[in-house]
Amino acid sequence: MDNGLDRKFRWGVATAAYQIEGAAGEDGKGPSIWDAMTHVPGKTRRGDTGDVACDHYHRYKDDIKLMAELGVNAYRFSVSWSRILPDGRGRVNEKGIEFYSDLIDEMLSYGIEPFLTLYHWDLPEKLFEQGGWLNPDSPGWFYEYAKLVGERFGERVKNYITINEPTNVLEGMGPGATNAPGMEYSLKDRLLAVHNLLKAHGMAVRALRETVPGSKIGFAPCSGPFCPADDDPELIEESRKGYCDMREGDLIGNLVLYSDPVFLGDYPAKYYEYYRDVHPEITKEDLELISTPVDYCFHNIYSANVLMKDGKGGYRIKSGNPVCNMLEWGIVPGALYWGPKFLYERYGKPVIITENGLPNPDVVCLDGKVHDAERSDFIERYTREILRAKADGVDVRGYFYWSFMDNLEWEVGYCPRFGLVYVNFDTLERIPKDSYYYYRDLIKRNS
Ligand code: GAL
Repeated sequence: MDNGLDRKFRWGVATAAYQIEGAAGEDGKGPSIWDAMTHVPGKTRRGDTGDVACDHYHRYKDDIKLMAELGVNAYRFSVSWSRILPDGRGRVNEKGIEFYSDLIDEMLSYGIEPFLTLYHWDLPEKLFEQGGWLNPDSPGWFYEYAKLVGERFGERVKNYITINEPTNVLEGMGPGATNAPGMEYSLKDRLLAVHNLLKAHGMAVRALRETVPGSKIGFAPCSGPFCPADDDPELIEESRKGYCDMREGDLIGNLVLYSDPVFLGDYPAKYYEYYRDVHPEITKEDLELISTPVDYCFHNIYSANVLMKDGKGGYRIKSGNPVCNMLEWGIVPGALYWGPKFLYERYGKPVIITENGLPNPDVVCLDGKVHDAERSDFIERYTREILRAKADGVDVRGYFYWSFMDNLEWEVGYCPRFGLVYVNFDTLERIPKDSYYYYRDLIKRNS
C-alpha cells in the first residue's frame, strides 16, 4: 500500500560495504570472497585491497554527518554478510550487528532514510568453500541471512535491496573473471549460479515480508538502456525493442534475462532457445519463488546504447561519440529518461535509480579543493533527464548518486574516483568536492 512517504522523491547517495568499510578482520568479521581474491597477487590493479578502504567502520559518524550536510534524505548502504555471520550461517557476530545498528541509528538521527542492500557481491568465503551459488542450498542460506537482518534491523529499516547486480556472478565466474571469486566456470555452472541467485532473491523477499511488516523490497540489476538518437517514433520503438530483447551471447548486458523472471514470472523465450543444452532445470515452484511480488524496480544505470538509423533502412548503435568517462563508458544523460520510461512500461513498478555516477582521476588542487566540474555537469545533465521522465508521467521515485565518497572500485582499485567526497587514501582525510556542493544545491532546488 502506498503512503505519503513512499511518494516522496528520494535524493540519495550510495555505497557498498566492501568498498568503504575496511576493518577487514576486525571485531569477529569473517572473510568474504572479495577479501580472499584481493589478496591473490595480480588480481587487482596495484594489488589494492579493501583491508582499510575508507575506514568507514571507524569513521561512520563523521561520514553520516557529511551526508546530512549534503542534504540527502536517503542513504543506500550494504551489510557485509560475513560481518554479521562470519561463517555465512549459524553463529551471529554481535559486534557486527552492533556496527550496523549504530550506523542505522546515526542516519535516522539526521532524518536520513536507510535503503539496505543485503548482497553487494561479498559472499562469505566459508559459503564459497561449500560451492557458493552453485550449491542448491544457497537460496536457503540467503533466507536465513535476510531473516536475521529483518529481525535485527526491521523496526528501523523499511527499504531493502536484496541483490545488487546479479550479473556480478558472471563477471566473477566467466571468461577472464575480473570480479570475485575470480575463477572461470563452465557456462552451465554460470547459468546455475544465476538461477540460484534469483531464487535467493525470492527467498529474501519472503524472509523480509515475514519479519518486516510494511517493508518495500526490490533487487537492483544494472543495464545500459537503448536510447533513440532523436525523437523519431520508429527509432523510439526500435530502442524499446532493443532494450527488451535477449541478445544471444550477451549474458551481462541483458535486461530481460534477470528482470523478466522477477517481474514477469519467467525467463524470456529466447533464454530457453539459446541455452537449451545448458540451462538448469527450472521448475514452476522456482519461478513462483523468483517472482514473489516486489514493490520497486530498483535499477543501476550509468551508460546507454544510442540507437540511430543506418541510412539503409535499418538501425545501428552509434559509435565514436558519446563522450566516454575514464572507464570508457559512454556518457549518455538520456539513459535516465529512456531507461526509467521503458522499465516502467514493461514492469509497471515505481522506478528508483539506485546507482549513477562518474569516475574521474580527481586531484586536490593547490587551493586544497577538488574542482570536479565534469561531475557537477554530469549530475545536472542526468538528473534533468530523470526529472523529465517524471514530468512525462513515469513513476520514478528516486535518484541515488554513486558514490557518496571515493572508494575501492573493485578490481580496478582506488584510482577511478566516483565520490562526491574526496578520500585521501594515505591519511583517510575527507574533502567534499565541488560536486558535493553542486549536488547539495541541486537537491535544495528540487525538494
Ligand atoms: C556498480 C557497482 C558498484 C560500483 C559501480 C561503479 O556496478 O554496483 O559497486 O562499483 O558499479 O563502477
